[in-house]
Amino acid sequence: MDQPTNHTIEDQFQARIDAEERIEPKDWMPEAYRKTLIRQISQHAHSEIVGMLPEGNWITRAPSLRRKVALLAKVQDEAGHGLYLYSAAETLGAERDELLEELITGKAKYSSIFNYPTLTWADIGAIGWLVDGAAIMNQVPLCRCSYGPYARAMVRVCKEESFHQRQGYEIMLTLARGTATQKQMAQDALNRWWWPSLMMFGPNDADSKHTAQSMAWKIKRFTNDELRQRFVDITVPQAEFLGLTVPDPSLRLNEETGHYEFGEINWDEFWQVVKGEGPCNRQRLKARRKAHEEGAWVRDAALAYAEKRRKRKEAAAAKTQVA
Ligand SMILES: [Fe+2]
Ligand SMILES: [Fe+2]
Repeated sequence: MDQPTNHTIEDQFQARIDAEERIEPKDWMPEAYRKTLIRQISQHAHSEIVGMLPEGNWITRAPSLRRKVALLAKVQDEAGHGLYLYSAAETLGAERDELLEELITGKAKYSSIFNYPTLTWADIGAIGWLVDGAAIMNQVPLCRCSYGPYARAMVRVCKEESFHQRQGYEIMLTLARGTATQKQMAQDALNRWWWPSLMMFGPNDADSKHTAQSMAWKIKRFTNDELRQRFVDITVPQAEFLGLTVPDPSLRLNEETGHYEFGEINWDEFWQVVKGEGPCNRQRLKARRKAHEEGAWVRDAALAYAEKRRKRKEAAAAKTQVA
């Protein structure tokens, strides 16, 4: 009997994915694959950019020069992550102007975690430890995403995220070993950031409408629940090492499976924040809009400069032709 052949272009595309080949910008791809990636990559880019806001809030108030330098570097890294990711989205035909427009008009989504406030310095520790920790869990498998530019961007991003996670954990460790008040600050930050961090992995698998297709396309390698479980398993012992208590009375280690069982996430809160009703959604968008408006002159100047260079080049080329 003849070997089955891949008749349609869609079959050939899926065969390449199944063979672990990378899809590159000029390759044929189904429209739905392109759209899914633009949505995911742009949401990711927006998250990096909006994620600068809660931490930027503490740059001027960092408790020492060393902490200030590390936090500045981290926040600057996040800007870089946003820029790689907008560039990766552009390779799929998305226009950066349009993506930014969707962000500042509130049409686009970004990670709901950044709609929570940073009330004390300990929050900077908790964010680095938990939020960047959860981001690493999500992003390491993306280094093997089927779309080349996204996968390659993730390699560098993940290296930087691990620095972020460590600087956060080190802040927590210092506070946890400090005075009783400092330890209480660390505990309070863990109390407020734990559940939103678990929400970062998205809805349960049963309620996640994009998961199956994204797994088939090898954009995603693990489901939301698998990644969330892995995060809990790794993070709970870290909390124990700090001498802090994870705010979940249902949390317990299942000796048989070796995994931690944990309580139910407050999905009402999750959806409320996703829909724009979180504690800081309005504040975040307002800050982004203000930055966009105040940066207009920079974009105008860059465009004018590019136009001037183009004209100069044209004039030089015309001169050579005449000569
Ligand atoms: Fe980042
Ligand atoms: Fe980060």
